[in-house]
Amino acid sequence: LSNTTEQYSTQPPGTIRRTPQTIIVGVRKGGTRALLEMLDIHPNIVVAATEVHFFDWDENYVKGIEWYRSLMPFSFENQITIEKTPGYFTSPLAPERIHSMNSSIKLLLILRDPTERVISDYTQVYYNRLENHKPVQPFEGIVIKNGALNTKYKAIQRSLYDIHMERWLKHFSLNQIHIVDGNTLIKTPLAELQKVERFLNLPPRIVSSNFYFNQTKGFYCIRSDGRERCLHESKGRPHPVVNETVLEQLYSYFREHNQRFYTMVNQTFDWH
Ligand code: A3P
Repeated sequence: LSNTTEQYSTQPPGTIRRTPQTIIVGVRKGGTRALLEMLDIHPNIVVAATEVHFFDWDENYVKGIEWYRSLMPFSFENQITIEKTPGYFTSPLAPERIHSMNSSIKLLLILRDPTERVISDYTQVYYNRLENHKPVQPFEGIVIKNGALNTKYKAIQRSLYDIHMERWLKHFSLNQIHIVDGNTLIKTPLAELQKVERFLNLPPRIVSSNFYFNQTKGFYCIRSDGRERCLHESKGRPHPVVNETVLEQLYSYFREHNQRFYTMVNQTFDWH
């Protein structure tokens, strides 16, 4: 149903648009698109096609909750509506605003190694700038300023998971937030999705035949409703080779933050 309802421009009988019962709040470059597309396989899930930016962009938030709801897909009563906007995780106001919409909402957060995330973030901006004929700089030129780590660099700030998580935990309890391991989602998507099915109290419907490894892309792609599809070419791009010393500087900068994050969420990850 999830895929057929999306295609209707008119309202299928028995459906309405609902505000999301689950939001993928981030992190940018964590694998948010893959997670959303893979969850869309589930018959009891419908997803918003585009990033809505309701809770993090004031110019959208002022439009009100009905505007937000109007952007959600039609759903049956037994379906969960999910939207993903990776910018929410690092947005100062998003936790409080989401909480005031629905204090018992279930949140999904997909994370990957913070250094890898910085490089992925850089790579995305690099290609965007190339497309727009803007000058680009090598990674090391942005990350190192006057011989030291440029901790003001936005991509580095976004990888300080403990700082951002602290804000979410002011408004939500830990058992409302499920953290998806972005590295595991790449390597063994089914296992990660089964954990999400359990978190959302959904019957297990996503199965191994929903995935096939595409050698050319180097990633798993999705087989569902008799169709096969990979994510857009902007997902899973090769990263630049980064200077070893710079890598070490990033690893050691994030180490303390990671430890603090593990304690906060009562869970560890195999990050550097
Ligand atoms: P890279 O392009 O740096 O490899 P987001 O959707 O949040 O922007 O995350 C993009 C990342 O999703 C990609 O980062 C890629 O590593 C990851 N990803 C996870 N599963 C994927 C899949 N099956 N196909 C493509 N990319 C996937």
